[in-house]
Amino acid sequence: MSQNEAKRLAGEKAIEYVEDGMIVGVGTGSTVAYFIDALAGVKDRIKGAVSSSEQSTARLRAHGIEVMELNHTGKLALYVDGADECDGYKRLIKGGGAALTREKIIAEASETFVCIIDPAKQVPVLGKFPLPVEVIPMARSLVAREILAMTGGQPVWRDGVVTDNGNWILDIHGLSIVDPVGMERDINQIPGVVSVGLFARRPADVVIVGGQPPRVL
Ligand code: A5P
Repeated sequence: MSQNEAKRLAGEKAIEYVEDGMIVGVGTGSTVAYFIDALAGVKDRIKGAVSSSEQSTARLRAHGIEVMELNHTGKLALYVDGADECDGYKRLIKGGGAALTREKIIAEASETFVCIIDPAKQVPVLGKFPLPVEVIPMARSLVAREILAMTGGQPVWRDGVVTDNGNWILDIHGLSIVDPVGMERDINQIPGVVSVGLFARRPADVVIVGGQPPRVL
């Protein structure tokens, strides 16, 4: 089975978590795109969606799904999003699509976080995928130096990418993250860091691994 087919099966399986009257938190990426397309099939049953990126907002609106402001919805029952890596404790690396900060906000605001992945995303230890960090532009070099000293990982500026929040991304290469909660906390404390793409303090609640049939962890 192709990776895209596995992503589609994971995205479609997540529809089982959508209940009548919900406002659904929606992540970003190619796996989520399949979820959004499937969500269009039940759009009359939901109130709307809260989106984590301009990219997902455009796709939701193209399907006629109302996109709502998190400030107006209160806590969400459900958030569905993909990931770049997932360990055995449902801790994640996210941000390959540069949407990590809004994704983190919506994950925090949600009762249940359903993460949809293809099998290639499952890892024993996080860190092979370069860890994205969103930074205020003027702090890019400072943050890079501090992260190098703190973790030993090699920060690489994702040159040319500007986030939906107007910030920049550093990708930290060469990590083996044995303490994801500690690293998330420590990187978050560096001045100039907006957020780090480690979802360890608030991991996923459910992980759906696309396949025939999909596996629910
Ligand atoms: C977006 O910033 C990311 O967190 C995505 O959720 C992650 O990169 C997964 O993307 P794909 O579903 O495209 O693999």
